[in-house]
Amino acid sequence: MSELVVSPQWAVLDGETLQGTILVLGESDTGKSTLARYLFQEIARRGMRPAYLDSDMGQSTLGLPATLNLALAQDAGDDEFPPGGPRASFFVGAITPRGHMLPTLVGCKRLQDRALALGAQAIVVDTNGLVERAQGGKALKEWKIELLAPALVIALQRGSEMEPILWPLRRDGRVRLLDFRVSPQAVRRSREQRIARRRECLAAYVRQARQHVVAMNRIAVYDLEYMAPSALLALQDDEGFCLGLGVVQEVDRGAGSIALRSPLPGMDRVASIRFGPVRWDLSREIEL
Ligand SMILES: Nc1ncnc2c1ncn2[C@@H]1O[C@H](COP(=O)(O)OP(=O)(O)O)[C@@H](O)[C@H]1O
Ligand SMILES: [Mg+2]
Repeated sequence: MSELVVSPQWAVLDGETLQGTILVLGESDTGKSTLARYLFQEIARRGMRPAYLDSDMGQSTLGLPATLNLALAQDAGDDEFPPGGPRASFFVGAITPRGHMLPTLVGCKRLQDRALALGAQAIVVDTNGLVERAQGGKALKEWKIELLAPALVIALQRGSEMEPILWPLRRDGRVRLLDFRVSPQAVRRSREQRIARRRECLAAYVRQARQHVVAMNRIAVYDLEYMAPSALLALQDDEGFCLGLGVVQEVDRGAGSIALRSPLPGMDRVASIRFGPVRWDLSREIEL
């Protein structure tokens, strides 16, 4: 991670602005995650206990690809990053919100509620770069704002690409809007770099895995249509949060069981399994 350059535009961010839920929006590589980390730390430096809600399942800051993640500061005033406090994770199952808008929105809301229940005094929400109307990005952001009811929306713009999302917000008394130019320090990543980053992240995680055999009639199984060798899956707790990811090794339909590989040490807390559309080749360590 390069050294953070604080933009002069950010000077408007004071104690009064940095409250409640703060949503950071912008296309890919506009500096959303960098700004979100800065906001988290500024809130902590003001003596509060912030939460970081990472809702980018493609280029995650806190967790694994295909998941949304929450982490709280350990205590009020603690600006350690990544945060050292309690965490929660929600499985979307895909590396883009396209075609997966419902789990994306539901996951954001579940994690926001969790952050509040855990005692977060402000919640910084980092987002995925899908903002284009034709791809569903405008609808996703519009309804995410409606659902999370942020006190502050910060948009990072190169040109006027965010305007379709921003213009009603300028007149909506429910939300404060700050519209920043993209920092000259923001560096673009190629599609190949994004794929490589996801791959390294998943490969390193799955490498520590051990085998588990799960009897399918003993557990709640969601999205069974994706169950096949190499399918990515989430091992979920009794509240539907993700305890860990796994990859299907073998399906034994006769025995009604699957063999999977996951770094999760044991299955005792696992209440459900959810399969997703992502497929991971265990031997070649690539996304299929
Ligand atoms: N204000 C800044 N100071 C220094 N580097 C920055 C700044 N904003 C963005 N960058 C760099 O640009 C790249 C993309 O930024 P990032 O925050 O990951 O964007 P996004 O989350 O919108 O995809 C990263 O390498 C990041 O370090
Ligand atoms: Mg980011």
